[in-house]
Amino acid sequence: MPDRPTTPQRVAVIGGGVNDEHDVSLASAAAVTRAVRALGAEAVPLTIDRDGSWRTTDGAPLTPSDVVALLTSCDVAFAALHGVNGEDGAVAGFLSMIGLPLAGSPVRAGALGIDKWVTKTLAEAIGIPTTPAVLVPAGAAVGPAPFVPPFVVKPTTAGSSNGVSVVRSPDGYPTAIDHARAAGGDTLVEAFVTGREVDVAVFRHHDGTLRTGAALEIGVADGELFDRAQKYDGTARFTVPAVLDDEELDALVRAAHTLYDTLGCSGVARFDFFLTTDGIVLNEVNTSPGFTEQSQVPRMFAAVGLPYVELVEALIAATPSLGAGSGR
Ligand SMILES: Nc1ncnc2c1ncn2[C@@H]1O[C@H](COP(=O)(O)OP(=O)(O)O)[C@@H](O)[C@H]1O
Ligand SMILES: [Mg+2]
Repeated sequence: MPDRPTTPQRVAVIGGGVNDEHDVSLASAAAVTRAVRALGAEAVPLTIDRDGSWRTTDGAPLTPSDVVALLTSCDVAFAALHGVNGEDGAVAGFLSMIGLPLAGSPVRAGALGIDKWVTKTLAEAIGIPTTPAVLVPAGAAVGPAPFVPPFVVKPTTAGSSNGVSVVRSPDGYPTAIDHARAAGGDTLVEAFVTGREVDVAVFRHHDGTLRTGAALEIGVADGELFDRAQKYDGTARFTVPAVLDDEELDALVRAAHTLYDTLGCSGVARFDFFLTTDGIVLNEVNTSPGFTEQSQVPRMFAAVGLPYVELVEALIAATPSLGAGSGR
């Protein structure tokens, strides 16, 4: 096993972002900052405001050249950015161009994983089932409903359940498309999946092996969605570890590992599945998942003996190009 890398001295922690998950990202970044400090390293917390401008998290505005100077004074970055203009490869591209290692996925994985349509196409190509879907590009005329209700309409690149709705009668279809389009870009219309929602989190350790958190089941009432309110008002019911038989767990973990490698992920990624009577169905992939202490991924790793601060330490240590990473 490669030597355990020492925690770098200066860690840039980036939060905020120009998208509908800005506030969630601020909470993730604050938690990562606390963990970096608990590890005895210097945290350099940076916030991207909603208008795209950068500042130090405690308030000082930064010009683009200030940002580059500050980032390049650090040894590694942890970008707790969720959604477009961040998780989608944007921050990975920026950091790689200025030579700062990122404890997270590179451009390609972020760009593929952010787009639910692309992710589905890839998953199907490697034999991981997804639910039937039709893409309605932004601006395209909306034809008749492609599925018999109930079905789901959602933006391809939003998060936090923004713009996601269940269409329960054909006349609800145009409203659902408007709702999805208001949250951004292209729209995906999907057959409704009836099943349990079970998520699996994976990261590649600095020793090159994949580490998997305990599977987590989200308690969602039949026919309903895991909506934004439940995600952030504390009413979400998580079961960690999810109660699964060996065959179910094995199928989920194998699919998550295959997806992690197919997308070319680094750092931690979360793979969200439905468990149906016909087997597993991939819902979506998050290459920069929610990362407060109470978020799913930290709870999944805490359940296998890796508490929050140690998880942050392990993710930083696994950063490719820090010396002992997997070098993907
Ligand atoms: N095809 C589907 N069938 C049933 N429920 C769905 C489907 N797609 C999404 N959902 C529900 O909506 C929630 C949010 O959708 P998701 O695709 O995960 O978007 P987000 O990126 O906003 O989390 C899911 O957690 C699930 O509860
Ligand atoms: Mg989701």
